Amino acid sequence: MTSLSPPKETFLADYRVPDYLIDTVHLHFELGASDTHVRSVLSMRKNHQGLGGDCVLDGEHLELLSVKVDGQQLQGNEYQRTDKSLILSDLPDKFELEIETRIEPDKNTALEGLYHSGSLLCTQCEAEGFRRITYYLDRPDVMAVFTVSIVADKEQWPIMLANGNMEDQGQFDDGRHWTRWHDPHPKPSYLFALVAGDLYRQQDHFTTMSGREVSLQVYVDHENSHKCDHALTSLKQSMLWDEETYGREYDLDVFMIVAVNDFNMGAMENKGLNIFNSSCVLASPETATDADYHRIQGIVGHEYFHNWSGNRVTCRDWFQLSLKEGFTVLRDQQFSAAMNSEAVQRIDDVNQLRTMQFAEDAGPMAHPVRPASFIEISNFYTVTIYEKGAEVVGMIKTIVGDEGFRKGTDLYFDRHDGQAVTTDDFIKAIEDANDIALGQFKLWYSQAGTPELKLRGHYDVINHTYSLHVEQSCPQTPDELDKQAFHIPLAVGLLDEQGLPLLLQLEGEERAYKDFTRVLTLNESSQTFTFINIESEPVPSLLRGFSAPVKLDIPRSNTELEFLMANDSDSFNRWDAGQTLLINTLLALVNNVQLQQPLNIHKGLIEQFSTLLTSRKMDPALVAKMLTLPSENYLAAQMTVADVDAIHAARQFLKNSLARGLKQEFSDVYKQQNSTGKYQFNSDDMAKRSLKNLCLSYLVATDDPMQTQRCLKQMKQSDNMTDTISGLVALANQVGPEGEHALRAFYEQWKDDRLVVDKWLTVQAQSSLPDTLIRIKGLMKHPAFNIKNPNNVRALIGQFCRNNPINFHAKDGSGYQFLVEQIIILNKLNPQVASRMLGAFNSWRQYDASRQELMKKALNDIASQKDLSPDVYEVVTKYLAD
Ligand code: BES
Ligand code: ZN
Repeated sequence: MTSLSPPKETFLADYRVPDYLIDTVHLHFELGASDTHVRSVLSMRKNHQGLGGDCVLDGEHLELLSVKVDGQQLQGNEYQRTDKSLILSDLPDKFELEIETRIEPDKNTALEGLYHSGSLLCTQCEAEGFRRITYYLDRPDVMAVFTVSIVADKEQWPIMLANGNMEDQGQFDDGRHWTRWHDPHPKPSYLFALVAGDLYRQQDHFTTMSGREVSLQVYVDHENSHKCDHALTSLKQSMLWDEETYGREYDLDVFMIVAVNDFNMGAMENKGLNIFNSSCVLASPETATDADYHRIQGIVGHEYFHNWSGNRVTCRDWFQLSLKEGFTVLRDQQFSAAMNSEAVQRIDDVNQLRTMQFAEDAGPMAHPVRPASFIEISNFYTVTIYEKGAEVVGMIKTIVGDEGFRKGTDLYFDRHDGQAVTTDDFIKAIEDANDIALGQFKLWYSQAGTPELKLRGHYDVINHTYSLHVEQSCPQTPDELDKQAFHIPLAVGLLDEQGLPLLLQLEGEERAYKDFTRVLTLNESSQTFTFINIESEPVPSLLRGFSAPVKLDIPRSNTELEFLMANDSDSFNRWDAGQTLLINTLLALVNNVQLQQPLNIHKGLIEQFSTLLTSRKMDPALVAKMLTLPSENYLAAQMTVADVDAIHAARQFLKNSLARGLKQEFSDVYKQQNSTGKYQFNSDDMAKRSLKNLCLSYLVATDDPMQTQRCLKQMKQSDNMTDTISGLVALANQVGPEGEHALRAFYEQWKDDRLVVDKWLTVQAQSSLPDTLIRIKGLMKHPAFNIKNPNNVRALIGQFCRNNPINFHAKDGSGYQFLVEQIIILNKLNPQVASRMLGAFNSWRQYDASRQELMKKALNDIASQKDLSPDVYEVVTKYLAD
């Protein structure tokens, strides 16, 4: 490692309460794109709980103009400075600190702090961006009441926003104007926000459960004025849902959402002033897909829900990040399930967890839901903190039941309102409200790794009992070799040979359990559960609804899987049985590809899918999910040594076989589902479109030229982006001139809409055709691409590296080399985005020796760069560690 002085690691165990506190903050901004002047007036006092000592304020990339304590200007020798801090000594118990700094939003390509996006000025402060605006105690346990005044040229920046309510505004004679905002709720600096620009505003309102009127406002570029309705509808749905489900009411007179084009993440929950990536706000039928509509609804909900889970009750330190993120993801998942299909939502959430989080847990960056240390906190906004964190809170809900959970969250919000707390405080509130102990359960917060359950059933014909033996284990992770047994809620049911549910009574119990599903408590490394009064050998349905984030090892025949797929009353498990069947089939095919043996699939599979397709009983969205093949990445994770080429060939073969075997059915269903009328975003229509487009994707796999025509026709007739893009994806993955034509026509039509252009980049980045990398390199020079825009980077580079395994893992290493070049550029421009892109190498040890060699070289090329950002340094070092 040639990095000069390696960045410092921060440990949870070193947490100390702050030595100083801040009661109020007055910020005064004189805005300019190239030059912004910030005056900050802090009323501060010593924290008597602290250890005493100097006052160390965080600050980075700041030009310091002046420091005053109680009105007295300090001389250069009266304070100390480092590149990351301003240190003041010999302070009174209580004092006013006034600091003036100068910053350059124009030069801020990292998009942290105050930066320029298009013609807007906006901020992003989580986690540690506020220190790029002024010197401050930039940590979440320092909470203050903020007043913000902004001065700027009126013509250039007619709209100027900050957190809370606008108190006053006025004009100067020189063409500048000013506004003053006040947020009465004490908050940490990471929730501070400011926006200035020429924006269109769409308004609505919401009456809260106690009868208060809240003004709802969405701010977007003028050209997007027709794309605000869906975000506003989603916001109103969120506000009502949180009142009904968690009893949580909004607490300011105004709630604002601003869309910006350059944003590192999806969206940010700044108090009263959420800032969103424009891709997570803007929607119109012609430009946004069902998936976009769905995502926008979920993310608007997510950021809104943070108002309680995150803002009113915030995190003590960044190790507690999952306290707000895990819980809020669970809340947004519940919300989306309530607004759409619960079954489909669960399938999507679990699928994402298994493909992304299980891979993280099995790789070099594995960390617990509450990490013990980090170098760069931005690297810990991970699927583990988010998705596994949500599963952990979801398991608590399963354990205490819906009512108990609500009692627990009520107590949590009441007890800790206005405080900065820990995941232990959250657990304590649930324990106290339910009078239970969750001590062992807390291991889910401190132990990394995905537990594995080995399950073996045994039917006793003589005694009519069915016993289920369970052994749990957890693989080692880089941080920890020895794992203790987890407390795992295992939801199970038993089916008789007709597929009907059996009554569940455990040995020693007086009567059968009331429900057909019951939650077994696993808390030892080996346990046996014996069900009595079971008249004939049952088929077990295990881990219903995916009741815990674990892997299952249970031998199942294809017949058993087909039986569950057709009969289980738990829709998640029906889907899961189907997926297991497909995975088994695909892994057998992979094996045959590797041995160069002829490929074939058993007839039963085609019959199963035919029944599924033609049954009118099931929700079309579920049928579509069941017919979707597991991704190449997920299959790779199921192999000891991932074989990209064999996986691709096997998956292609299965897809083609199903397509040919069920051509008539796919065609019939396509026609049947094809008449949804004018586009509407609702579950029913969305379900129909998803099944129809799934059929289309199979139909084009038959290589029948008629199907190419069908794609073209669909694109031509479509009034919505869901159908348009499905046609385009199908064509772009085919050899032949139609794909080229379609791509060209699509770009011509949409070149002025940056979000649609991102889709166009993605379609090409994901193409499995062999010339894809060459095409991508060309696209990087195209006017549609700007490496400084994170959405462009994710759409092109990110999609290629993460969702195009056959090309990214090209044998000659060209895909890896390409990514290295991009990471080196991005490391300087935008370290957060660079580090995210590096994530494509997470599973590098999963591949064959020659690919491993190439990836190792790629990682070393990055590691040997001078001036590595802490973000990239941390990830690359952990990837290369033995
Ligand atoms: N607080 C985060 C946004 C954030 C993350 C800001 C990291 C700075 C650094 C926000 O609440 C969030 O979690 N956003 C998610 C979307 C959400 C639906 C999971 C995002 O941006 O991806
Ligand atoms: Zn969040």
